[in-house]
Amino acid sequence: MTNATTKPTNKALALIAVMALTLALTVVLGLVVGCSPQGGSSDAPKGETQQTEKEDPMANQAVEWTMDIDCKTCHTTESESMADTGIPQASEHAGLECVQCHTEESALKTAHEGVTYADKPASKPTVITVDAETCQSSDCHGTMEEMAAITADNQDFKDEKGKVQNPHDYPSNEQHDTMNPTCTDCHNIHSKNLQKDAMMWCAQCHHKGVFQCGTCHELRERAVQ
Ligand code: HEC
Ligand code: HEC
Ligand code: HEC
Ligand code: HEC
Ligand code: HEC
Repeated sequence: MTNATTKPTNKALALIAVMALTLALTVVLGLVVGCSPQGGSSDAPKGETQQTEKEDPMANQAVEWTMDIDCKTCHTTESESMADTGIPQASEHAGLECVQCHTEESALKTAHEGVTYADKPASKPTVITVDAETCQSSDCHGTMEEMAAITADNQDFKDEKGKVQNPHDYPSNEQHDTMNPTCTDCHNIHSKNLQKDAMMWCAQCHHKGVFQCGTCHELRERAVQ
């Protein structure tokens, strides 16, 4: 078939042409840069042509981050979670803008210093940019006590021995009372594993996946954080 033989030849010719053009541009650019350090408006396109040798030159440009930027462009995982009915804690908030929950502008600004479109965003929370007070505002959910009433009959949050626990209410004791969790300690909104996330919080002390103490060994304190 003729196609089979002409194609590589065409490719080779095209390659030579591109190489020649690149060489020519390099020479021209070298001269331009050499002769006029300030350059001129007509030089800009030539500089850009040379940069297209990379995949996407814009990908590595630092982004001017603001609260108005389109978050979804980079944070595809979190964005998709908002439409996933398998993650009700995310999808039931689908009507909200990212920044209605992620209100901590200065923490966000710091997290985005020098980011580019090529950077890989964190897949787990490492900084707190959601004020738990937002969840508890009267427009939204209310306090732990109010949540405790809603989940009073909930049977889904249990330890490895099957002991059921209301996730929003647990017995009062010295340790529990000095270390109260807040909404975002357990609800990492974009995570599928709410039960596991909540268990992780308790496991800071209840390390064997059991909501007991003093049963396997005498009561002793565990260093937390
Ligand atoms: C209903 C409130 C809410 C909305 C809406 C929301 N988030 Fe979150 N997001 C959270 C909470 C809570 C966390 C857990 C970390 C924390 O406490 O800051 C979190 C965590 C994150 C993280 C850290 C990594 C991770 O996946 O846990 C990123 C990134 C993030 N959100 C981006 C977004 C983007 C982008 C949008 C919009 C598409 C969005 N969020 C919408 C509440 C929300
Ligand atoms: C240009 C891409 C880009 C855009 C646009 C962007 N982000 Fe990010 N974001 C990142 C990257 C990359 C990181 C990780 C930075 C690091 O840890 O070095 C990050 C980090 C975060 C974190 C912290 C995650 C953690 O570690 O806990 C949150 C929350 C977040 N972004 C939310 C947002 C929100 C809300 C918006 C929209 C207002 C937004 N981002 C827009 C790229 C982007
Ligand atoms: C110790 C971890 C933990 C903390 C802290 C926590 N939650 Fe929860 N929450 C859970 C778990 C686990 C469930 C899921 C129970 C289930 O599987 O039905 C849940 C369920 C919910 C539900 C769904 C209730 C229903 O059945 O309709 C809402 C809404 C909620 N939490 C809001 C909050 C708010 C608001 C706060 C802060 C005031 C908060 N949670 C604090 C662990 C926690
Ligand atoms: C800061 C450490 C700490 C954290 C975090 C913690 N606990 Fe505890 N918990 C204890 C200690 C210590 C005891 C035993 C207190 C005593 O007997 O005097 C206890 C006792 C209990 C008991 C009573 C057990 C019994 O047999 O009387 C239950 C139930 C319980 N915790 C559930 C939870 C749940 C659910 C969580 C997570 C939402 C949690 N705890 C988080 C330290 C902690
Ligand atoms: C299901 C059994 C079991 C329960 C319940 C249990 N532990 Fe343990 N714990 C162990 C075992 C096994 C070890 C390791 C052997 C040892 O040090 O005795 C251990 C070790 C420890 C240690 C020393 C090492 C470490 O991991 O830090 C501390 C501190 C501790 N437990 C605290 C607690 C506290 C606090 C509770 C209740 C919140 C608790 N344990 C509940 C079984 C248990």
